[in-house]
Amino acid sequence: MNVLVVNGPNLRRLGTREPEKYGTTTHDELAVLVTQWGADLQLEVEVRQSDDEADLVHWMHESVDAGWHVVLNPAAFTHYSYALRDACALVSAANLSLVEVHLTNPHARETFRHTSVISGVATGTIAGFGVEGYRLALEAVARRVG
Ligand code: DQA
Repeated sequence: MNVLVVNGPNLRRLGTREPEKYGTTTHDELAVLVTQWGADLQLEVEVRQSDDEADLVHWMHESVDAGWHVVLNPAAFTHYSYALRDACALVSAANLSLVEVHLTNPHARETFRHTSVISGVATGTIAGFGVEGYRLALEAVARRVG
């Protein structure tokens, strides 16, 4: 395994959660797509989801220890979780790629979504392309791994 794909709170509800914004692909379907896209790029990918901030923090630590790159949709934690930001900073400091992904474009939405406390410690951010954003993120990781 060399890329951990992590989805934050409420993303288990994909498919039925505000489909006009987030689309109709379920989280299980997303996991299948992402795993296949990874395989196409010779990346071994694991997909995890949690509503719990502590899980996300621990998974960043696990990535540092294991040397995994990270594709992270921090969901609402994007906007206020300094704990997750600090954990993401450890990933970047370990010279691992950390790509922040959002299905929607938060800058085109409510003002509170315009701030990401994660972006400043991410390698880069992909937002607004729906589930396709995960494929773009994996491509970015694959190119950097080279
Ligand atoms: C999101 C955007 C966040 O503002 C929101 O809280 C989410 C999903 C996205 O993928 O567009 O849960 O990260």
